[in-house]
Amino acid sequence: MVRETAISPDDFIYPLFITFGKGVRKEISSMPGCYQESVDEAVKNAREVHSLGIPSIILFGIPEHKDETGSGAWDDNGIVQQAIKAIKDAVPELYVITDVCLCEYTSHGHCGFIEKGEVDNDRTLNLLAMEALSHAGAGADMVAPSDMMDGRVSALRTALDTGGYADIPVMSYAAKYASAFYGPFREAAESTPRFGDRRSYQMDPANRREAIKEVAADIAEGADIIMVKPALSYLDVIAEVRASFHVPVAAYNVSGEYSLVKAAEQRGWVDGNRVMMEILTSIKRAGADLILTYFAKDAARVLAA
Ligand code: PBG
Repeated sequence: MVRETAISPDDFIYPLFITFGKGVRKEISSMPGCYQESVDEAVKNAREVHSLGIPSIILFGIPEHKDETGSGAWDDNGIVQQAIKAIKDAVPELYVITDVCLCEYTSHGHCGFIEKGEVDNDRTLNLLAMEALSHAGAGADMVAPSDMMDGRVSALRTALDTGGYADIPVMSYAAKYASAFYGPFREAAESTPRFGDRRSYQMDPANRREAIKEVAADIAEGADIIMVKPALSYLDVIAEVRASFHVPVAAYNVSGEYSLVKAAEQRGWVDGNRVMMEILTSIKRAGADLILTYFAKDAARVLAA
């Protein structure tokens, strides 16, 4: 009766990694229980996610070919576009969000267009807008830009509005830190930068005020939901964003946060399920309305037990 915070499968968004081929279900070694899956396998997984009471998934693509500009990202027959169509066909009630970024599609692994060895912010915006439009055209319910270029929310909003997708909301990765906790994801998405790092576009973990500024800018540009990422080392940022703005706040419980728990659990060092539930509760308690988490299915099972 007096418990202040409750988590439910309703809070979760489950990430899926889509790869080419058929019948492929390859476990990501640093993320036990998570897979790179071909479209047919992802459909089965999407059904399971839905049957567990989780309302939403977010899709990441691993294309067969990567190139300098990341053209696979806006290919109407690209890997994510195929997955959206197949999943919306099979499980129409499942809310499908897409990650909008170039790093999974570029040969260099950066999130933007490269000019003289540097990411060119403004030339990237148009490519991201094309990607978002292509996802919307395939049937995505919401797009989530994770690139951290300045001005991308308004670029996406304008493209969607003029392209006939005024009703598609934008969830922006607004306060996204240049974090070592993304390590396992980069194995999963095969998106480790070939040179340099992401510090020219992602945030310094030492900064909190800057997060408020980034969130305010994204809301002004038209973001419907804003995200703080990672979650665990940034609970103070989640709490401050929650208190400062009146839009839904999402938190990304990222790959490294998942892997740490799984690794310790495999060694018998911690009770994995209890640690998982404590982590998810703390993210909610800090103020997140939505949690993107690789634990979604495990946690839904614990909650149902
Ligand atoms: C793409 C992107 C990343 C994550 C989500 N979208 C990786 C990165 O910025 O390197 C990380 C998710 C995770 O670690 O679980 N830009």
